[in-house]
Amino acid sequence: MEIVRSVANLKDSLANNSELKMGVVPTMGALHKGHKALLDVARKECKFMVATSFVNPLQFGREADLSSYPRSRDEDMTIFEQAGTDLVWEPSFTDVYPDQFETRVKMGVFAEKLEGIYRPNHFDGVATILCKIFNLIRPHMAYFGQKDWQQTRVVQKLIYDLNFDVELRVIGTVRDTDGLAVSSRNRLLLPEQRSSATKLYKALKVGIHSFQHGELDCDILRKKMLDVLIPDEDVRVEYLSIADAFELVELKKIRGPAVFSGAVWIDKVRLIDNVLCGVDIEGLVDAT
Ligand code: PAF
Repeated sequence: MEIVRSVANLKDSLANNSELKMGVVPTMGALHKGHKALLDVARKECKFMVATSFVNPLQFGREADLSSYPRSRDEDMTIFEQAGTDLVWEPSFTDVYPDQFETRVKMGVFAEKLEGIYRPNHFDGVATILCKIFNLIRPHMAYFGQKDWQQTRVVQKLIYDLNFDVELRVIGTVRDTDGLAVSSRNRLLLPEQRSSATKLYKALKVGIHSFQHGELDCDILRKKMLDVLIPDEDVRVEYLSIADAFELVELKKIRGPAVFSGAVWIDKVRLIDNVLCGVDIEGLVDAT
């Protein structure tokens, strides 16, 4: 496995492999089982696998969130290596954003819904770094996790609107045995906060279960989900949503593919999760 930092070295390393089917797994490091799942699928599907590791300041709102973002560089490199990664791009801030860098990608209204309401400009930052990654690496395939469902929709829109020649693959959420979706931010949870952290998924499941038993009214479904969360004083609900899975528009009644999602705070740790209904993520490329 080769590890490169500068853009010049990245280009040199890619030049020798440009004929091969190339897959990229963009990450911010602090790898977990979810990243491992992305790497495993990418390894199977591509001849040359590139991973990126860069905590992108442009997508963080509050300085505190950026500085507390978990970092585990040595463990990450072992995971990349064991997953059979060919090349890791691990740039410094100035490699990515040299002096006088000022261009930003501005996503449309799509990115202003759900997460975008609470994290303004977050997806513009994600889109900006991904444009760099797609332009420099020119992958055939790019791998993202379902846990950041809205991010996958934003990436699909970015690919379509800016004509990137890359195929998006979405890999299902990986969960710990207690149901908590694996996330880099889980490392910030104290052991005693763990059970509160699992409540969001429990609430989403209550919603889905009730829908599967015939309840289509989203106000009723949202209330049922909220009822799971409210009794736990350690959970602060930021939002609970039932939206069209592709347009991300909040629904009154479920009539087609939908995403049940939410964000909660457990003290200073923000967690998100989602459950899809009526969406075949394997066949997603055709569905969007
Ligand atoms: O999902 C993430 O880890 C980040 O948003 C990404 C896609 C690596 C861009 O920085």
